[in-house]
Amino acid sequence: MLVALGVLRRCSTNVVPAVSCLLSRQKHTLPDLPYDYGALQPHISAEVMQLHHSKHHATYVNNLNIAEEKYAEALSKGDVTAQIALQPALKFNGGGHINHTIFWTNLSPNGGGEPEGELMDAIKRDFGSFEKFKEKITAVSVGVQGSGWGWLGFSKDYNRLQVVSCSNQDPLHGTTGLIPLLGIDVWEHAYYLQYKNVRPDYLKAVWNVINWENVTERYRAARK
Ligand SMILES: *[C@@H]1O[C@H](CO)[C@@H](O)[C@H](O)[C@H]1NC(C)=O
Ligand SMILES: *[C@@H]1O[C@H](CO)[C@@H](O)[C@H](O)[C@H]1NC(C)=O
Ligand SMILES: [Fe+2]
Repeated sequence: MLVALGVLRRCSTNVVPAVSCLLSRQKHTLPDLPYDYGALQPHISAEVMQLHHSKHHATYVNNLNIAEEKYAEALSKGDVTAQIALQPALKFNGGGHINHTIFWTNLSPNGGGEPEGELMDAIKRDFGSFEKFKEKITAVSVGVQGSGWGWLGFSKDYNRLQVVSCSNQDPLHGTTGLIPLLGIDVWEHAYYLQYKNVRPDYLKAVWNVINWENVTERYRAARK
């Protein structure tokens, strides 16, 4: 009923509510964290987590909903210019929402250590050793100019793991064809309050809270 009301309210300005209008009414919501804001301390402070989740991620979600609403309107009016103009906002906020949703589940208060089983085997196969993998993704993440992400992704085409960094606004899958397994947020909002401008210290600490079970789960799903 609530959904139906939403549909009516938001589409009522259109003379003929288009199918696209009805279909795009599913609003995105901020996912709850699977742990408390303070659960990752001392490695990531409660203050950082709260700001990051309740302000930054929430803003991506809100702006994605706004952009989608405008897009639906542009579609229903057949306004192609407006549709094109909305692409960057959809990409940026949609990418931010997807990235952070993955990132939260990649972390855990019971995380750290090393992966096991099939993921560890693949890491050894594709990087030589776990240490070498860590060095590589750390180097790539430290090296991101300005805001961005370091990723461990899986290439289905080549059946191999790959480490990449992204500082542009394209989602990982769109630009590289990689399925994201582990993302490390190196935007300043992810560490500045605690580590100031020393990104390498944050990157050292984050290994203590990586949820390898989740990364392994994603690896398994990616190979199906
Ligand atoms: C999301 O991740 C992709 C891949 O790393 C990156 O290109 C993009 O800038 C990220 N978006 C945001 C808003 O963090
Ligand atoms: C872990 O990753 C999967 C994706 O494979 C996701 O659906 C799941 O919710 C995550 N679980 C947690 C809490 O780590
Ligand atoms: Fe972030």
